[in-house]
Amino acid sequence: MQEQKIKFAVVGCGHIGKRHAEMISRNEECELVAMVDVKEHQQLNIDSFQVPFFNSLENFLASGIDTDVINIATPNGFHASQALQCLDARKHVVIEKPMALNKQDAEKVIYKALNVHKHVFTVMQNRYSPPSVWIKELVESGRLGKIFIVQLNCYWNRDERYYKPDSWHGSKDLDGGTLFTQFSHFTDIMYWLFGDIENIRSRFGHFNHAGLTEFEDSGFVSFDFVNGGIGCINYSTSVWDHNLESSMTIIAEHGSVKIGGQYMNQVEYCHIKDYTMPELKPTNPGNDYGAYKGSAQNHHYVIENVVAVLKGRAAISTNALEGLKVVDIIERIYTSGL
Ligand SMILES: NC(=O)c1ccc[n+]([C@@H]2O[C@H](COP(=O)([O-])OP(=O)(O)OC[C@H]3O[C@@H](n4cnc5c(N)ncnc54)[C@H](O)[C@@H]3O)[C@@H](O)[C@H]2O)c1
Repeated sequence: MQEQKIKFAVVGCGHIGKRHAEMISRNEECELVAMVDVKEHQQLNIDSFQVPFFNSLENFLASGIDTDVINIATPNGFHASQALQCLDARKHVVIEKPMALNKQDAEKVIYKALNVHKHVFTVMQNRYSPPSVWIKELVESGRLGKIFIVQLNCYWNRDERYYKPDSWHGSKDLDGGTLFTQFSHFTDIMYWLFGDIENIRSRFGHFNHAGLTEFEDSGFVSFDFVNGGIGCINYSTSVWDHNLESSMTIIAEHGSVKIGGQYMNQVEYCHIKDYTMPELKPTNPGNDYGAYKGSAQNHHYVIENVVAVLKGRAAISTNALEGLKVVDIIERIYTSGL
């Protein structure tokens, strides 16, 4: 295994599936062995990959092509069922965010993975951005003291240029909701830093997405952290024309921090007792969706982690339980709406 290349297949060859394929192809320890999508090959702009192509996951699994890992980059509503199919075929899986659209489905995936002794990697690549790495170390060092308040503000634009009629975006079954598709990275960072939440109170708004989405476009969510302190997530995709910000403000016993930018890519404020902020490397640019910027272009780290785990060099950086917790938190936010 040490010298062998890890063989990957990618299911779903849209914006993000192509990034997976690209990052796999660029990694010397990896080999891309197949791509799968329900669309026709010529519609997908994947000629450069030159690997066997299949029109369904079933057909690919039946092909017998030797594969170690299957990366699932299809619409959210397919993640859990496709992960179960891949695990049944005794493959490791990398599941794009969100891992599932409800906790029960995420549990089924974990249960199956344990049964067949295969790994589940979930994708939360914003954790690798320099401000995220820095704040994780800072929080874990205890230097901030007790956490009093954490405020997440996620204000983006997603309008008819994004919610196109033929797209899965906006559908309850395949997209799931604004917190699942747009803001699960930020929920993940909050959970990763401060742990679980309870006593959730949510209010949702439906301002300007009638006919575009089957769910809310905005919300105010407040809660307690199980570990102490209170928090809130304020979010909207109703911002006119382009993204405004994604930020996290932390008010703690020994100092305050604000991480901001469009996708929490820069530290805007840091004032902590007996502490000087180190210089951070710039964050990779956001994934490009035409007029839109999304999360950071860090998928190469995800692929590197898969290789490192399968070759026994590292632990999973975002494991299935963490993927499940993000789904669980979002599901509880949605069910605690006023
Ligand atoms: N990690 C990130 O930062 C990030 C960013 C954007 C999207 N995503 C996630 O990646 C996934 C894909 O998003 P996208 O923006 O690439 O969407 P997309 O619409 O560009 O691509 C999805 C592809 O999946 C294909 N597909 C649909 N049903 C299929 C099926 N049953 N089997 C095989 N292929 C199927 C579609 O034909 C399409 O080509 C979503 O889950 C999304 O939440 C993650």
